[in-house]
Amino acid sequence: MKIIMLGAPGAGKGTQAKMLADKYDIPHISTGDIFRANIKNGTELGTKAKEYMDKGLLVPDELTCDLVVDRIKQDDCAKGYILDGFPRTIPQAECLDNALNAMNDKIDYAVNVDVPDENIIKRMSGRRACVGCGATYHIVYNPTKEEGICDRCGKELILRDDDKPETVENRLNVYHEQTQPLIDYYNNKGVLQEVDGTKDMQEVFDAIVAVLEA
Ligand code: AP5
Ligand code: MG
Repeated sequence: MKIIMLGAPGAGKGTQAKMLADKYDIPHISTGDIFRANIKNGTELGTKAKEYMDKGLLVPDELTCDLVVDRIKQDDCAKGYILDGFPRTIPQAECLDNALNAMNDKIDYAVNVDVPDENIIKRMSGRRACVGCGATYHIVYNPTKEEGICDRCGKELILRDDDKPETVENRLNVYHEQTQPLIDYYNNKGVLQEVDGTKDMQEVFDAIVAVLEA
C-alpha cells in the first residue's frame, strides 16, 4: 500500500503515519524527520535545510525530490510506504509521478487530514518531540508518563524550533499557498480520501483505516 499523508502543519500527519506504519509494517518516510536528522548530524543538507525550516519556508524542491525518489526505490519500500510531508508542492508531486511511472507504479491513496487553522496553533505550542527517537507527544492531548521524558526511549523532549507561534503562522501561509493545491491534484487522480482530523487520535486512525480497507 502506497500512501501519501496530506494536511496542514500540525494536522497530525506524523502521528497517524507512525500508527499506520506499525499496523501495516511499512516504512514511514517523513521529509521533515529526514531534514531534522540531517540538521542534528550537521550534514551539508541539514545546514541548507535549516535556513528555510527556521523561517517556516519550504526547502527547495531540488533538495527534496531526489531524496524521496531514492528512498522509495529501496528494498524495504517494495510492499509499500507512507509519505508524510511529501509531496508539498505541485512540482514535487509531478516529480514523484514521473518516478513512479518509470517504475510502473502508482500511489494508492492520498489521505488529507483536515484540521482548521484555529486548532493548529494550539496543537503546535503543546507538541513535544524526543531528541532521541523522534517520537512526538502533546502536553495535553498525548502526554508522556513522566513529564519531559520520552516513554519510548527515555531521552529528553524538546519544543521544535519551528513551533514558535510566529513561525507556525508562516508555515500555515505557505501551506495554503503551496501545498493545499495538492488536494485538487490528487482528487483529479481519483485517489483522494478526506478524514476529519479534529477528532481524537484513535478516532482519526480508525477513520483512515476504514477508508484504506473499504
Ligand atoms: P514537517 O516535519 O513535515 O512539518 P509539518 O508538515 O509542518 O507538519 P508537522 O510535523 O508540524 O505536523 P504533523 O501533521 O506531522 O502533526 P503531528 O502528528 O506532529 O516539515 C517541517 C519543515 O521541513 C517544513 O516547514 C519545511 O521547511 C521542511 N520540509 C519538510 N518536507 C518538505 C518538503 N516535502 N518540501 C519542502 N520542505 C519540506 O501532530 C501535531 C501535534 O498535535 C502533536 O503534538 C500531536 O501529539 C498532536 N496531535 C496529533 N493528532 C492529534 C489529535 N487528533 N488530537 C489532538 N492532538 C493531536
Ligand atoms: Mg510531522
